[in-house]
Amino acid sequence: MQTCAYIAASITALAARFASADLGSVGQDCAGVSLWNPGHWVWFLRGNCYDKEQNLVCSLMYLDECFAEVNGQLQPQEGGKGLRNCDQCTIDNFAMSCHCRGDNGDMVPTTINLNDTMSVEDNGWVACFNTTTQQC
Ligand SMILES: *[C@@H]1O[C@H](CO)[C@@H](O)[C@H](O)[C@H]1NC(C)=O
Ligand SMILES: *[C@@H]1O[C@H](CO)[C@@H](O)[C@H](O)[C@H]1NC(C)=O
Repeated sequence: MQTCAYIAASITALAARFASADLGSVGQDCAGVSLWNPGHWVWFLRGNCYDKEQNLVCSLMYLDECFAEVNGQLQPQEGGKGLRNCDQCTIDNFAMSCHCRGDNGDMVPTTINLNDTMSVEDNGWVACFNTTTQQC
């Protein structure tokens, strides 16, 4: 019985060690994310995320690096340049909603879960695919 408990504790510790070496998602590793819109059709994600020493680090990701726009709908794609067709973007609970230009020219609503696309590197910087970002 004691041996079992010891082994179980060791396995849990090992799993935690591997998990901390993995990239986390923004939902798990960030105190918060927000949008920075310095110009028309220009969208950055600003992350306040923990590095592996649990310090909060501010970083910026140019979202055209992470999403494509297909008939007004955002979808994850490395270097997709999608956000340059979008405006009125907002973030609620790590879901980003925008209005993006559909094929017929109308602006249509689209929402994408950032947890599934945006990760956090060991240094606390937000990343998508293999594209990293810059400190704020
Ligand atoms: C993102 O992940 C966080 C932490 O797991 C969770 O609280 C939140 O509901 C998630 N957001 C979405 C849109 O799934
Ligand atoms: C990141 O780059 C590595 C090495 O080039 C590649 O094997 C991997 O598939 C890439 N990951 C993503 C999510 O693009």
